[in-house]
Amino acid sequence: MVKVAVLGASGGIGQPLSLLLKLSPYVSKLSLYDVRDPTGTAVDLSHINTVAECQSFNKDQLVDALRGARVVVIPAGVPRKPGMTRDDLFKVNASIVRGLCEQIVQTCPNATVLIISNPVNSLVPVAVETFKKFGINDTTKIMGITTLDLVRAETFLGDYMNHSRVTTVGSNQFDKRRMHKVVSVIGGHSGHTIIPVMLLKPMVYMMKPGQYDSFIHRVQFGGDEVVKAKQGQGSATYSMAYAGYRFVEYILKSIQHESLEGLGYIPAYVYLPGLKNGSIVQSKLGSKELEYFSIPINLINGRIESVDTTILDKLSKQEKLLVDKAIPELIDNAKKGQKFIRNAA
Ligand code: NAD
Ligand code: LMR
Repeated sequence: MVKVAVLGASGGIGQPLSLLLKLSPYVSKLSLYDVRDPTGTAVDLSHINTVAECQSFNKDQLVDALRGARVVVIPAGVPRKPGMTRDDLFKVNASIVRGLCEQIVQTCPNATVLIISNPVNSLVPVAVETFKKFGINDTTKIMGITTLDLVRAETFLGDYMNHSRVTTVGSNQFDKRRMHKVVSVIGGHSGHTIIPVMLLKPMVYMMKPGQYDSFIHRVQFGGDEVVKAKQGQGSATYSMAYAGYRFVEYILKSIQHESLEGLGYIPAYVYLPGLKNGSIVQSKLGSKELEYFSIPINLINGRIESVDTTILDKLSKQEKLLVDKAIPELIDNAKKGQKFIRNAA
């Protein structure tokens, strides 16, 4: 049984994510922290008759919130409004993530740290560099959550292919036509850096003309669709809570040493030089400068044991072109996060 801390628990993502975690049989303690007092959320959730014990912590209680945490999920930060890019959030959210990581590194340095806050492409480097600054060089448990891109790819492809896409929250049981065996997503988490990869290439030929291109565009810019529809009230929250829960559950299953077989190619945005076979990704993609990439991961006990580089051998010509286009932006995004910590006094 595991203590999970949600930092940013009063927010649009934090609240529904906390609800899903309260329902999880893998969570024994649920620690809710936010600078906006999350007491109400915690008391409300505590009336649900599941195992997890909910505790709330206000802005002065970060240390208590983190003490003993095995998994820390971070949806703290500002979301986009129409007309903004994720990169526009960097200044505010980089300071938030840095501050939280400075405390995580001191209070629960062995926790698995999962970043939801945007821009993920730059904030995972902020987290990794903060850990390194404090002398922690094991970065195999710091990950950016890109599961929403996977969820969108599965949903939209399911729509296009006219497949049923029934899922059961909490068990990851898909129906017979499991979309997660058909598609995965690599690259990063913003626009053109999001690259859906068809695991069954013939699916492309089964689509109507133009459908494949519009599928790719929808996965890459699905976030904009939600930001526009919410008309200034923020970005994806419910779908992100579901995606975040799905990823946290994947981590929790690995901590419980459960088999991860059959759950599909679940990617995360990771620091390649910190991983045992990260350099294989760099050489397969022909760029030593590319230090961060979202790619399916293999987990052991809540940390990345290796990445699944075989997906890179399955890329079509068009998918390779998309990756080539993404690489310079991914490199720039990562450098921005690295500089933010390295150049700080
Ligand atoms: P929100 O504004 O509804 O909630 C954010 C919460 O963070 C607020 O409750 C706020 O009080 C809290 N917060 C701010 N500073 C904090 C700090 N220092 N410590 C603790 N809590 C703090 O926003 P949201 O809709 O929940 O989105 C949160 C972030 O997630 C945004 O940056 C958004 O862009 C990102 N996001 C990422 C993905 C993804 O796929 N990775 C998907 C959707 C949204
Ligand atoms: C998303 O993909 O929905 C999130 O990254 C939020 C956003 O700003 O689009």
